[in-house]
Amino acid sequence: MTRILHFSDVHFPLSRNSVSLPEILRPKRILASANYLLRRRPKFIAGNTKWDAFNNFYKSIEVDAVICTGDLSGMGMHGELDYAQSKLEHISKHPNFILLPGNHDLYLPEKNGSHFYDIFKDSITKSDITISDNTPYPLVKLINDNVAIVAVNSAKPNPSLIRSSGNISTEQLSAVDALLNNDELKTRHVIVATHYNADDEDTNLHGLENRKEFRAILAKHNCAMLVHGHIHKNQTYNVPDSNTKAFCAGSLTYKGRESFWVYNIGEKNSAQAGSWDGAQYVLGEEQSI
Ligand SMILES: [Fe+2]
Ligand SMILES: [Fe+2]
Repeated sequence: MTRILHFSDVHFPLSRNSVSLPEILRPKRILASANYLLRRRPKFIAGNTKWDAFNNFYKSIEVDAVICTGDLSGMGMHGELDYAQSKLEHISKHPNFILLPGNHDLYLPEKNGSHFYDIFKDSITKSDITISDNTPYPLVKLINDNVAIVAVNSAKPNPSLIRSSGNISTEQLSAVDALLNNDELKTRHVIVATHYNADDEDTNLHGLENRKEFRAILAKHNCAMLVHGHIHKNQTYNVPDSNTKAFCAGSLTYKGRESFWVYNIGEKNSAQAGSWDGAQYVLGEEQSI
């Protein structure tokens, strides 16, 4: 059996060291800081304690791969991502650690390219099948003879004050289409991972802009599973227009909604929702997939 741990949306709390004035004095971040102080801070305030507890949980189980579907930070500032990188140091050493950025990690366009790619360059796994040398995504990890994971970047900077939507580039969509047609993947159980959800429940300002095009590719290849974050609520649903089952990990640290998933892929496929019992992370019953 192959076991995969999937967590998302840690949103590590802001600290004085993670803030720099030139970065925070941009209009979208000024607004986000006010929102953080008024609304977000109480929800993620115990994030560091919970992260330590999650590390203890991680040490207590054996998994074949770890997927993080992004939103490690709040505003994608250099100091925030640097801090997140230090917190992920242990877990990111897993040989099959798969990391994706969320919209909060690529928050605004930066002069010298995204801080995320620079800071996490050693944590972004090299793809087992090369599609493009220009971008790390989509990347494929052939976990064993039975399971493959395809990581697709759906996040982008959103300079607009009111927009937090995602988009999968045309190049990536073509690459995912080609990958899912590859013999190495056709013979394996394929899990596609991305940050954004693929249903129609989200608004256009917050959801995946080209979800219909993405769904068409999942349907064309009869892809079994899509795993993602972005929505801070643990849930499963059937991806519209396809036979793909979606698993949203919710947020690992959001007060009252702490969650993650463990997927068991073998003769019988199952998923176990993880939750926070007030002192530690625990795993729930197996649900068949
Ligand atoms: Fe998030
Ligand atoms: Fe997000």
